[in-house]
Amino acid sequence: MMRLAVSVLLVLSAVARMGSRAEEVTCSGIVPMKNRSGIISIADYGGVGDGRTVNTKAFREAIYKIHHLNRTGGTLLYIPPGVYLTESFNLTSHMTLFLAKGAVIKATQDYSNWPLIDPLPSYGRGRELPGGRYMSFIHGDGIEDVIITGENGTIDGQGDIWWNMWRQRTLSFTRPNLIELMNSRDIIISNLVFQNSPFWNIHPVYCRNFVVRNVTILAPRDSPNTDGVDPDSSSNVCIEDSYISVGDDLVAVKSGWDEYGISYGRPSSGITIRRIKGSSPFAGIAVGSEASGGVENVIAENITLYSMGIGIHIKTNAGRGGFIKNITISSVYIENVRRAIKISGNVGDHPDDNYDPDALPVVNGITIKDVTGVKILQPGMIQGIKDSPFTGIYLSNINLDWVRGSRPSTPWTCSDVSGDAVKVSPLPCSQLQI
Ligand SMILES: *[C@@H]1O[C@H](CO)[C@@H](O)[C@H](O)[C@H]1NC(C)=O
Ligand SMILES: *[C@@H]1O[C@H](CO)[C@@H](O)[C@H](O)[C@H]1NC(C)=O
Ligand SMILES: *[C@@H]1O[C@H](CO)[C@@H](O)[C@H](O)[C@H]1NC(C)=O
Ligand SMILES: *[C@@H]1O[C@H](CO)[C@@H](O)[C@H](O)[C@H]1NC(C)=O
Ligand SMILES: *[C@@H]1O[C@H](CO)[C@@H](O)[C@H](O)[C@H]1NC(C)=O
Ligand SMILES: *[C@@H]1O[C@H](CO)[C@@H](O)[C@H](O)[C@H]1NC(C)=O
Ligand SMILES: *[C@@H]1O[C@H](CO)[C@@H](O)[C@H](O)[C@H]1NC(C)=O
Repeated sequence: MMRLAVSVLLVLSAVARMGSRAEEVTCSGIVPMKNRSGIISIADYGGVGDGRTVNTKAFREAIYKIHHLNRTGGTLLYIPPGVYLTESFNLTSHMTLFLAKGAVIKATQDYSNWPLIDPLPSYGRGRELPGGRYMSFIHGDGIEDVIITGENGTIDGQGDIWWNMWRQRTLSFTRPNLIELMNSRDIIISNLVFQNSPFWNIHPVYCRNFVVRNVTILAPRDSPNTDGVDPDSSSNVCIEDSYISVGDDLVAVKSGWDEYGISYGRPSSGITIRRIKGSSPFAGIAVGSEASGGVENVIAENITLYSMGIGIHIKTNAGRGGFIKNITISSVYIENVRRAIKISGNVGDHPDDNYDPDALPVVNGITIKDVTGVKILQPGMIQGIKDSPFTGIYLSNINLDWVRGSRPSTPWTCSDVSGDAVKVSPLPCSQLQI
């Protein structure tokens, strides 16, 4: 009990430090950080942080207890320093999962025992394979008022076994996300490290009021589909002050897949992404390619990218339907990037043969401004869709420099696009010049 009392004090002082950063614009207005009225420790439920003991029972029982305590003001589950191996588990409402400094929650690699859940209705099937999908390592459905935080503790998906199954094509179902919260609201994920996710790292889907801030997300550059944060059919999402170095897009805003996403009809809207740094062989800030429910009102600012495949990537396809509109991306620094800006209407695969090839997405109102790029191989490519040209594409104050001696012969390639370009160097394609 003494140890828990000391822990309580440490937790309180750590929580107290979190709220205080008044000068900068932050996400804190969306979901305020709060203290809990009660604290329990995973140790009280038999949790052992020796890196070998499987703690599934401890996690499930502690969270069951929090659910049934139903304490006004919620309960904090404290994870002391140590490595806690566990199978996947579900969170509940009105809880904080708090990882102390040196605490690691690590996924077991027992995929034969991993729970399967239904496909998302807006995808119609697993993203990788038909049928259901493996449940995320940490999961929540229909929950509210949840905080996942700590003192830079780590949530480790031990994804290599999954990446290898993907490489060897021996997967039976779609790989698990590290954290997926569905149909949930008032969520904060902060002050932690997420590493080696089997698939996408943080996946809010059908959520609102969702904050991710001050996190580090790490996965090897060659790990397949380890996207950083993918807000999907969600609104009021804010992602800030984070470092993301993974094997796929750092942040990708989505909203369902082809005919399933169209009929589910839930857009992503009100998405703020700011002060993100990172690196990946794919895109820094992406929208799509699954955007069939529509994506609108996205602001991304103060983004710093190194060694990227693509800096900014808006991607969709015939069959997707939906819309991508009112997207503003500004104050971007990119260095050592294959292609700085790509807006494209022919990216991504289809869930099955029943997609409607005439379901053409509408792309309108994309502003990209204040971009500095150095060591850029190919400045830009904008390829609209013939029967649904991209409109209102506005580029301003963009300076893209290439590696000395490798000036691209056609810096910009464009088709089926209209808009304006002001102070863009190298000079963009004629479709965008006033
Ligand atoms: C949380 O508790 C600490 C310590 O008692 C206090 O200083 C801080 O203001 C509280 N924070 C919130 C958001 O209530
Ligand atoms: C928790 O308590 C609230 C009100 O006190 C009640 O509405 C709710 O149903 C309770 N939830 C559970 C899981 O017992
Ligand atoms: C966790 O949640 C999923 C999906 O909501 C559900 O299918 C599963 O039974 C839950 N698992 C436990 C152990 O409660
Ligand atoms: C960010 O998280 C680290 C721990 O990971 C913590 O030390 C630091 O105070 C946090 N910063 C803010 C602004 O919350
Ligand atoms: C948190 O851990 C990450 C990964 O080890 C490290 O890069 C980062 O500097 C740490 N942050 C703090 C505030 O200690
Ligand atoms: C565009 O999106 C921004 C950010 O969400 C929002 O503030 C603004 O009102 C939107 N503009 C229109 C015309 O909807
Ligand atoms: C970007 O964020 C950094 C770190 O918070 C800050 O120092 C810098 O002034 C910001 N730049 C812009 C253009 O907002």
